[in-house]
Amino acid sequence: MLEHLDRLAPDPILGLMAAFRADSDPRKVDLGVGVYRDERGETPVMQAVRDAERAVLERQTTKTYVAPAGNAGFNDAMRRLTLGDDSPLARSERVCAVQAPGGCGALRLGAELIRVARPEAVVHVSNPTWANHVPLLSGCGLKLERYPYFDAACGGVAFEAMLSALEALPPRSVVLLHASCHNPTGADLEEAQWRELGALLERRALLPFIDMAYQGLGRGLAEDAYGLRLLAAQLPEALIAVSCSKNFGLYRERVGCLLVVGQSGAAAEATLTQLVRIARGLYSMPPDHGAAIVAEILGEEPLRAAWQRELTAMRERILQLRTAAAEALAAACPRKDFSHIVRQRGMFSYLGLDKDTVRRLREAHHVYMTDDSRINIAGLRLGNIPYFAQAVAHALGQ
Ligand code: LMR
Repeated sequence: MLEHLDRLAPDPILGLMAAFRADSDPRKVDLGVGVYRDERGETPVMQAVRDAERAVLERQTTKTYVAPAGNAGFNDAMRRLTLGDDSPLARSERVCAVQAPGGCGALRLGAELIRVARPEAVVHVSNPTWANHVPLLSGCGLKLERYPYFDAACGGVAFEAMLSALEALPPRSVVLLHASCHNPTGADLEEAQWRELGALLERRALLPFIDMAYQGLGRGLAEDAYGLRLLAAQLPEALIAVSCSKNFGLYRERVGCLLVVGQSGAAAEATLTQLVRIARGLYSMPPDHGAAIVAEILGEEPLRAAWQRELTAMRERILQLRTAAAEALAAACPRKDFSHIVRQRGMFSYLGLDKDTVRRLREAHHVYMTDDSRINIAGLRLGNIPYFAQAVAHALGQ
């Protein structure tokens, strides 16, 4: 049976990770996979995570199963972190929450839920969107389409084109949105644009499915959730997939959460039973360790404050790298405009380079980025930005 299988090309992001590891050149720069790095190029375990982990392990007396919906304390804490501590919705019976294996697991649970509720539903994703949205959302049989999003000329959101495309969708279509720190472009909606989008989604009866993977790494914890909170409060239904990989640095622990806002308490209760059934059939129960750490951090005030300080330092470092990279590129490549890098937020920006230039950067200069020229800003270091900018200039022939 298996001898007929085709050999597949590596995943565009994970394949790059492997190629970078195999490169022995000391000058190599990894701007591929979206993980936070410090000035030494490392992705350290956050101190708040270490402290919470110690407390969790000391208290733990068993490794028996938790539940398909995961850790109840974690789910409660995630409702408040995502929807806002003071939000009535965070405590409302209209919301249900299930722990998921990472933001990816939450996205897939949401897609499976949509397929159960409305198998013919079409999910509309931004053009471009994170490469893994496609297999995660369409893998269960849902159809995907794209709406215009990025304006390459200014490095911002093509908001009018986005609105007119969404305006034309049939009611009950699903619209996948990035809460903040858009992956791969770094171009986010402004608050007024979120309000306009909310009015459109309401008027056209469209269902938002919001992916929040970078809360706190763009403008701040509340700021990065502004649009999500607005839509969740205003619309009758919403799906929200949250990842704790980046803002808690818990990548390999696979911890995330799916929140669903229903029209009523009864609808949310029924939804929860469906999600539990879906989880049981996919992976039975989520891994416990990462969620226990997050619940500990969010539940203990001193730990939470320490985590927020670390997160703020990470965000500020990314902003500093954005400024330094834009300045170095402006000096090294005077014929190309890179000023959008300072206007964008989160881990990513597009450099606007063609595939050949990206390949030259990788082969001649050991600078790794995805073929669409997305760079992980957090993969830069103040110490290697001059090398990176010179490499881009050479690859561009400037
Ligand atoms: C990325 O976009 O690089 C990250 O979200 C990591 C991944 O799994 O692709």
